[in-house]
Amino acid sequence: MRTLITNGTIVNADGSSRADVLIDGESIAAIGVDLPASGIGADETIDAFRKYVIPGGIDVHTHMELPFGGTFAKDTFETGTRAAAFGGTTTIVDFAVQSRGKSLRDGLDAWHAKAEGNAVIDYGFHMIMSDVNDATLAEMDELVAEGVPDFKLFTAYPGVFFSDDGAIFRAMQRTAHNGGLIMMHAENGLAIDVVAAEYAADGKTDPYYHGVVRYPIFEGEATNRVIRLAEAAGVPVYIVHLSARDALNEVRAARDRGAMAFAETCPQYLFLSLDDLGNGFEGAKFICSPPLRPKDHQEELWTGLRKDDLQVVSTDHCPFDFHEQKELGRGDFRKVPNGLPGVEDRVDLLHDGGVVAGRISRERWVEVCSAAPARMFGMAPRKGAIAVGADADIVVYDPERRHTISATTHHMNVDYSCYEGRSVQGGSDVVLSRGTVVVRDGAFTGRKGHGRFVKRAVSEAVRQN
Ligand code: URP
Ligand code: ZN
Ligand code: ZN
Repeated sequence: MRTLITNGTIVNADGSSRADVLIDGESIAAIGVDLPASGIGADETIDAFRKYVIPGGIDVHTHMELPFGGTFAKDTFETGTRAAAFGGTTTIVDFAVQSRGKSLRDGLDAWHAKAEGNAVIDYGFHMIMSDVNDATLAEMDELVAEGVPDFKLFTAYPGVFFSDDGAIFRAMQRTAHNGGLIMMHAENGLAIDVVAAEYAADGKTDPYYHGVVRYPIFEGEATNRVIRLAEAAGVPVYIVHLSARDALNEVRAARDRGAMAFAETCPQYLFLSLDDLGNGFEGAKFICSPPLRPKDHQEELWTGLRKDDLQVVSTDHCPFDFHEQKELGRGDFRKVPNGLPGVEDRVDLLHDGGVVAGRISRERWVEVCSAAPARMFGMAPRKGAIAVGADADIVVYDPERRHTISATTHHMNVDYSCYEGRSVQGGSDVVLSRGTVVVRDGAFTGRKGHGRFVKRAVSEAVRQN
């Protein structure tokens, strides 16, 4: 099957140009001006006049079916990847979970079983490490060799995913030998629990207090600590879901002194704020960790994105219904499952609030949504660019089309939207996954099971700073 995309503007991270794209089978076969005039034919032609032709979005932080707080994130690999595709994302990297006392292998096998035959777009895995011991350290090497080269550890959630500094340092030391990457959830969870208990004892149990007790300085302190540990181990470190200026300052200072420190932020930290956690129990819809911050942190995160102190925007997609799931924490914010839906909205929110609002260029938009994730997570040159030989993961994107985000029209399996009623400019007209049209003009044309596991290489990009 050959597909020709004509008349569009190709937007890559390193520049834009008017050119046609020929897809042959699953990959991009040719790029050139006026390909039909040079006699190139195709089975299907997609007219991209006045549209962008961009590499499909890559969301390197999702949690399909994550167990949390006595329940599970509601999207499966089928519903979650379908929603991702509607939003112009053609690859996700989800977090497999090692349960305490079990092996990394058990966790990885479980996640393969969830995804295989269900995902509609390509997917990879990182591994959440809950125990660091001789056995799991040895397993890290095996996972790296199997294309799962990143490991998330937590300074938050004591008693659940928390690791102490010694455990984190041991895992980091191991990546110095096996080429893996440590991803850190950096908040001082022990200190947070002290403050949270004080507030709860005072009867301050509304969701709003979730955002109050997790001080920005607790994120800054943990971010500094894990970067310092990584420097001591001589390895790169990637800070996930960075939310606060205090943490950004630490990443910037580390990068300025030449440390291999990298970070992502998420749309919720760019567009939502502590105010959203108010309004009584409705605020539970916005409970995630780190929490939404006071509004004045937002512009600093945008500056961080412009200046490359933040390299990636992912979603941390982790949807829980408001009814029955978030409600588990009625009367105690500490019992609300942490996480927000967002895999469908990232590309459009970043286009609208970033490109249209004049905060970032359209090339930087492609960089943080696709090219950098591909490079930093061992998927380039197959993914992350419109280039000959790359997978034909392509979005024909209409930069003018407006739509209103709503739970009544979104495709994520969750009963609310954090962006309900927000009008955004920009939307995906046609989405192709390895040459197959999976979304066209608002209709799903893909297939459950089309998505394949992406065996990822160790990333050179994070070792070159
Ligand atoms: O609130 C969040 N972020 N939930 C998902 C788990 C995590 O920490 O990433
Ligand atoms: Zn986290
Ligand atoms: Zn997460």
